[in-house]
Amino acid sequence: MSRPITTFDEFRDAVSAYRLPVVLLAALELDLCTVVGNQTWTVSALAKELRVSERGLAILCRNLAMAGLLIKKGTGYKNSRLGATALNANHAAYRGGYVDLIKSHWGDWCRLQESIRTGLPIDHDVPDSPDWRRRFTWAMHHRTLEIAPAITAQVKLGGAGTLLDLGGGPGTYALAFLAHNPHLRATVCDRDAALDVAREVAATHKSGRRLSYLPLDFTKEPIPGPYDVIWYSNVLHIYSPEDNQAIFRRALAALAPGGRLIIQDAFLHDREGLFPADASLFAVSMLLFTKGGDTYSAAEVKRWLGDAGFSQVKSLHIKKSTEDWEDGILVASASESRPKMSARRTRSRGSSNSH
Ligand SMILES: C[S@@+](CC[C@H](N)C(=O)[O-])C[C@H]1O[C@@H](n2cnc3c(N)ncnc32)[C@H](O)[C@@H]1O
Repeated sequence: MSRPITTFDEFRDAVSAYRLPVVLLAALELDLCTVVGNQTWTVSALAKELRVSERGLAILCRNLAMAGLLIKKGTGYKNSRLGATALNANHAAYRGGYVDLIKSHWGDWCRLQESIRTGLPIDHDVPDSPDWRRRFTWAMHHRTLEIAPAITAQVKLGGAGTLLDLGGGPGTYALAFLAHNPHLRATVCDRDAALDVAREVAATHKSGRRLSYLPLDFTKEPIPGPYDVIWYSNVLHIYSPEDNQAIFRRALAALAPGGRLIIQDAFLHDREGLFPADASLFAVSMLLFTKGGDTYSAAEVKRWLGDAGFSQVKSLHIKKSTEDWEDGILVASASESRPKMSARRTRSRGSSNSH
């Protein structure tokens, strides 16, 4: 959505936009692209294989072909390139972790009213389990594995020797930075279950040998340093303004003089904080899943960084369509002459967000 709804027809179209997502989700629930695999199927043969009605499947397949997941030729259907790869569990390029997260989000979003009433995440009384964390971390890897190399190619580290991927999850970004910077050493900081996934991902990359692992809750404990660069990607939105400001102070204490904190997130860019639409809608996810998260304007985050003691804060403009978020990178520099602070000295109250 790029502009506000002004007519009833536009309102109806916006509300009815659920139709195609429901069709796509039905295909995912049936794991249809995996079953179709590399074959061409008639509807009746595929209906038998999937144990569904021919009538239902005929209408589903026609719509999936209209949407581009399947290709129709006469009475036969086969997978499109997307269906045969990212959505096919038997293909090496399967992005199942992320597909599963997308599937579960539908049900979660249908519970939005609960969060609006209480102001709390829908499952606020369910603790973060290692199993859930592991699945979420794979989802993050499958979400970013294509864009991380494109983004990190454009974020120049200027000869930095060390990088901390703070809340780095599967380490997909850390690995992409390592691949572009042969003299860099990187550390991924996250919870234990996430770091287990990061180790598995790193084992499949040559540059994974230059990656190390830091299990730490950075809202509760100081961040050990010093690092030349701290990469804080897609974490800002999980936390409240106060929590983020405390994290910025900890990050500054963990940076070498002249070091940089680089933040990637879904920033709002207009004066009233409404656009881009994706960033506004992402705040709804944060209402559903976190206790204090939200999306923020680039201007307010720049102010928090200045208040935390960073000497210079800039937006980094990188080539469009390769960004995780549109115009979503801020670079905050620590002063060269900063008095050396011990990371252990900065303490702030803990926080309990589950994303
Ligand atoms: C949305 S994911 C982003 C992963 C990755 N940075 C990316 O851009 O794809 C947020 C990550 O931050 C981690 N995280 C959030 N709060 C944390 C905390 N207090 N201590 C350690 N890790 C945390 C989560 O476990 C998760 O892996």
